[in-house]
Amino acid sequence: MSTKILVTYATCTGSTVGVAEAIGKTLSEGGLTVDVLPMKEVKNLSQYRAVVAGSAIQGKQWLPEAVDFVRANRAELSRKPFAAFLVCMTLAMKNGENYRPFVVEFLAPVRALVRPVSEGQFAGVLNISKVPSFSERIKFRLSVLFGVWTEGDHRDWKAIRSWAESLAPRLV
Ligand SMILES: Cc1cc2nc3c(=O)[nH]c(=O)nc-3n(C[C@H](O)[C@H](O)[C@H](O)COP(=O)(O)O)c2cc1C
Repeated sequence: MSTKILVTYATCTGSTVGVAEAIGKTLSEGGLTVDVLPMKEVKNLSQYRAVVAGSAIQGKQWLPEAVDFVRANRAELSRKPFAAFLVCMTLAMKNGENYRPFVVEFLAPVRALVRPVSEGQFAGVLNISKVPSFSERIKFRLSVLFGVWTEGDHRDWKAIRSWAESLAPRLV
């Protein structure tokens, strides 16, 4: 059987790419062979021993393309170790850790399709200039103005690496 691991991601404004790459790097440093690919470029899962899939959160959910990926590959993902992660801004709020139980539920629709062997929840990046929708940009500017969210990079690389390290034995 193949020993290769797939780390795949869905992103809107780019920050989930860095999280996926950091997970891939940590797994490679642990001696695993890893491909890191956007979900839309993944054609065939049969060559992989295990799959780690992650998405940016929008409207308290994985991006639709990410849920579609799991739905389309449900049978195959159920037969191999599958881990899931999310990247969101709720965990970057003041006292964000208090919201972790709420954030964990953002993955409920994914969990209902395929039960992950492990789940990671990470704070992301708010870069309003990269948000494609004008009305969303206005909403985010107001959220920043009222102190709900803070613009910038809130990714916690130590937490991301530590999750990836904990993942390795569950994937092989
Ligand atoms: C349109 C939009 C909706 C969002 N909705 C949520 C949300 O419901 N909850 C949350 O915690 N973060 C939300 N976020 C924040 C993103 O999850 C966060 O910025 C993440 O780092 C984006 O990842 P990406 O750069 O890979 O797209 C939203 C961001 C955008 C642009």
